Amino acid sequence: MDPIIAAIHADPYPYYAQLRAEGGLVFHQGLKLWVASSAQAVAAVLAHPDCHVRPSHEPVPQAIAQGMAGKVFGQLMRMNEGERQRCPRAAIEPGLALIDVNEVNALVGARLITPGPDGLYAAMFRGPVCVVAALLGFSPAQGRAISELTADFVACLSPLSDQAQLDTAHVAAEQLKGYFIELLDDPNNRSALLAGIRQRFAVTSTDSESLIANLIGLFSQTYEATAGLIGNALLALIRNPQLDSAQVDDVIVDDLIAEVQRFDPSVQNTRRFVAAPCEIDGVSLNAGDVILVLLASANRDPQLNDDPDGFLLDRPNRRSFTFGAGRHQCPGQVLAISIASATLRKILTLKPALDRLTWRYRPSLNGRIPLFA
Ligand code: HEM
Repeated sequence: MDPIIAAIHADPYPYYAQLRAEGGLVFHQGLKLWVASSAQAVAAVLAHPDCHVRPSHEPVPQAIAQGMAGKVFGQLMRMNEGERQRCPRAAIEPGLALIDVNEVNALVGARLITPGPDGLYAAMFRGPVCVVAALLGFSPAQGRAISELTADFVACLSPLSDQAQLDTAHVAAEQLKGYFIELLDDPNNRSALLAGIRQRFAVTSTDSESLIANLIGLFSQTYEATAGLIGNALLALIRNPQLDSAQVDDVIVDDLIAEVQRFDPSVQNTRRFVAAPCEIDGVSLNAGDVILVLLASANRDPQLNDDPDGFLLDRPNRRSFTFGAGRHQCPGQVLAISIASATLRKILTLKPALDRLTWRYRPSLNGRIPLFA
């Protein structure tokens, strides 16, 4: 086991506990990076101004720098510090925070979901992006095309992708941009979310490329992480048969999603790149150092949650790093949780034979996303 393989291991949590026992922030000789595993170290790294989301010598991964996917990547708030993060974030975050849960429920409710593995795949990997597309004012048919394009585009974010996948990602980025050019030109767009984002964006910038890149970023950020949350909630029902899925009502679904995101997060880790010499949690770091930030381990730290390895639907004062912390903290948390809850509720009304499903985790360096068969 190592801290990267752990993301898709059947049960990485005892290993994370071992890492925490060896120290919150420790250098891993094999991977040649620092590993932050305790809640204290994870919080300190995410809060530190010199811990950046990209290495300063490679703001865009070389493998995609020459194409459209690289152009989008280079403008994402997720991949920038300073003004290039703060400006798009200030335009987008307030709108996401005001999402109407009833609207999300209605959009998920209107989707056709079938109970077999193919239906679950579509509910996990297509539905959430279709909901975000609808909230921005795209038609259902456009949403379906956009969810396919997003699947192709996100390949550019993973170092595991091959050249053919990267070529497809460039084409997808170009097409997603085309969808947004048309959307932003459409005088009949009625989306309150899009109107608010445009209005706030115009206050600080006229750079429509940055606006479009960060709107595409909403799809790519939604895609795998929300699929994983829905999938890991289904796994929790399979692993805890006492939570009889036929009896799980609306309240329990909300509690279940809240505990699953902490207990078995779809985003297990993120990375930071040290931009200047600094000291964190008593450890001296040099410019150029890389830190693997184990969000999923911090969630199981007894310093953060009492009885951290217990799966407790009614957990008091639940605390979690699954959505990050600090200046890059996920602005889509409320939306992601409402999409996942609505989707799980809809899946459960179909009374799926959960005990007959098998699964494996999708290959990934940071995502914990089950694929059902
Ligand atoms: C279960 C689903 C999700 C999880 C677990 C998740 C998790 C995260 C995490 C951990 C980060 C911070 C990464 C870092 O600091 O290195 C992040 C950032 C972000 N997320 Fe989410 N996310 C989810 C869904 C969404 C959705 C639905 C949206 C929007 C529609 C979204 C939009 C964003 C954006 C724009 C950022 C970048 C923020 C910034 O850099 O300032 N996420 N997310």
